[in-house]
Amino acid sequence: MLIDSYDRVVDYLRVSVTERCNFRCQYCMPEKPFSWVPKENLLSFEELFEFMKVAIDEGVQKIRITGGEPLLREDLDRFIGMIYNYAPHIDLAMTTNAFLLKGTAQRLKDAGLKRINVSIDTLKPEVALAITGKDVLKNVLEGVEEARAVGFKVKVNMVPMKGMNADEIIDVLEYCKERNMSVRFIEYMENAHATVDISGMKSDELLAILSEKYEFVDDGFDGSSPSHYYTMKDGYRFGIIEPYADDFCKQCNRIRLTAEGNLIPCLYFDESMSIAESVRNGDIKAAAEVLREVVRTKPEKNRWGGEEGEASSRAFYETGG
Ligand code: 5AD
Ligand code: SF4
Repeated sequence: MLIDSYDRVVDYLRVSVTERCNFRCQYCMPEKPFSWVPKENLLSFEELFEFMKVAIDEGVQKIRITGGEPLLREDLDRFIGMIYNYAPHIDLAMTTNAFLLKGTAQRLKDAGLKRINVSIDTLKPEVALAITGKDVLKNVLEGVEEARAVGFKVKVNMVPMKGMNADEIIDVLEYCKERNMSVRFIEYMENAHATVDISGMKSDELLAILSEKYEFVDDGFDGSSPSHYYTMKDGYRFGIIEPYADDFCKQCNRIRLTAEGNLIPCLYFDESMSIAESVRNGDIKAAAEVLREVVRTKPEKNRWGGEEGEASSRAFYETGG
């Protein structure tokens, strides 16, 4: 079992398979980065998998494939199959912008993927264009439908921003509720790569809007999910992810691996340790050492809630959030 210095069990690994993305979300990658990681620096599926086996053997129970946009990486279903066949019990999920789900959902399901998280920040095509830099909404919604049709459980993320999509909180919730998809509203996390003038919304502002229309009870945290949950009268549950809250990191159980093989103890901080050398040399022992060291050095909490304006300098497209 992997246990950090604050007695948190680390059993969740997020693996970014590419930092590239076909969207230019204001809160993540508003412009194409100055340079992408050169192809030769990317770990192959086999190399990533070598590390994932180590992590699974050390106690990881849940794996999420992220990006950038993970579906930009060719043959992703093959990678998913490798993980599934090694450890069918793993809770294997993916976070995607859904643009490429149409036509791929069935293959992902057949390969062993169990759950999908998607972003639906708006239901208006022109707002989707303003947020992502591209006319994406139709493909996104069709992709979501296809994922549901092939039997995926789909969770939705929305990042509410003032003057952008804040007036659609209820609409997005209703859209999800009708389809029995859980929605989580995410407080915008300041980071140096995002558009400077985004004004995110905090949990109390979101709750004020939601409570005008609905009655709900506060369910608190559920296991190690980062989301604070609320249950409405009819049983529908929505969540709010509040990285600015003081207790946000208390139940954190995750570490992140980038496509280059950097293992990251905390989304907020720049620190990381590379497993690239060890997996390329087939040195499993060394990879396991790095894994344990990263878990040992996992910080107690992020600094978003700290001094005013404490943005993170880590790019979200490197870690998939
Ligand atoms: N703040 C909050 N959430 C973010 N995401 C990406 N960047 C940010 C940010 N700066 C979330 C999006 C997406 C997921 C991959 O990460 O909601 O669904
Ligand atoms: Fe948007 Fe996700 Fe791409 Fe970032 S990685 S630009 S959040 S779609």
